Amino acid sequence: MEKTKTPILLHKTKQLSEGRHMENLVLHLDNIQKSFGGLRALADVNLHVEEGKTHAIIGPNGAGKSTLLNVCVGRLKPDSGKVTFDGEELTGKKPHEIAQIGVARVFQTPEIFPELSLLDNVMLPALSKRDGSFRFNPHLAMRNQNEIRDEAEHILGDVGLKEQMGMVAGSLSRGDKRRLELSMCLILHPRLLLLDEPTAGMARHDTNATIDLLKKIKERGMTKIIIEHDMHVVFSLADKVSVLARGKIIASGLPEEVREDPLVKEAYLGTAQE
Ligand SMILES: Nc1ncnc2c1ncn2[C@@H]1O[C@H](COP(=O)(O)OP(=O)(O)OP(=O)(O)O)[C@@H](O)[C@H]1O
Ligand SMILES: [Mg+2]
Repeated sequence: MEKTKTPILLHKTKQLSEGRHMENLVLHLDNIQKSFGGLRALADVNLHVEEGKTHAIIGPNGAGKSTLLNVCVGRLKPDSGKVTFDGEELTGKKPHEIAQIGVARVFQTPEIFPELSLLDNVMLPALSKRDGSFRFNPHLAMRNQNEIRDEAEHILGDVGLKEQMGMVAGSLSRGDKRRLELSMCLILHPRLLLLDEPTAGMARHDTNATIDLLKKIKERGMTKIIIEHDMHVVFSLADKVSVLARGKIIASGLPEEVREDPLVKEAYLGTAQE
């Protein structure tokens, strides 16, 4: 199929990469390849993300989306290719070094401290960064415990979890755990936020609240990559959409362009969402 028909939007992807010096592109993924044994999870991924924008990556199960984020945050080493953020190469760096550059992520499976309170969960990432190791934003390292507590409470209010802040995190629903993990990222004021299915497991009401929250934090100018299966979330938030299928970006463009592309409909939207 791919050999006989050229995806319309692949052409646009090419235009985007050709025009990269014209735009304010801050994150570059160049020729990323990653195999697990005989399985080629990422065949050859090229992606360029504009500063302050929300770039959605959609694609069927097993397409390689989470693998791609794991490469960005240093959890997985690519077999070849490189990732650059704001002129600094991330490939080869350890996860904590990448965090210090200002990259935060919400994983597909929430990673929280289940035995601690919600408030402690949100304060902990900020407290652990007070040692001055945060190169990208030194004032983060200067905050005292009271300031951190105030901000943690404020963020928990923003995500709709303030009333539960004294509860242990392990008792939360799956959707609330995702909002807690997002709070743990926001307190670090990241420059790049990577979200792997941030609304998975949420009821529609909570999904809409998360969309509102992500729209609100967009005003802070943070660059975001969001992986989502829920097209309502994608089309509410994304400035650009790329489609990953079998380890390759098959289309990239404005959300309405991607939505209308027949090949994308065939490869993903038509089967998974309608
Ligand atoms: N650590 C690993 N070891 C072996 N195979 C893996 C590993 N991680 C991912 N894979 C495989 O790589 C492929 C891509 O997986 P990945 O989790 O990136 O897909 P995905 O697009 O995030 O899917 P989903 O939408 O279901 O989350 C899948 O076939 C998966 O089974
Ligand atoms: Mg995944």
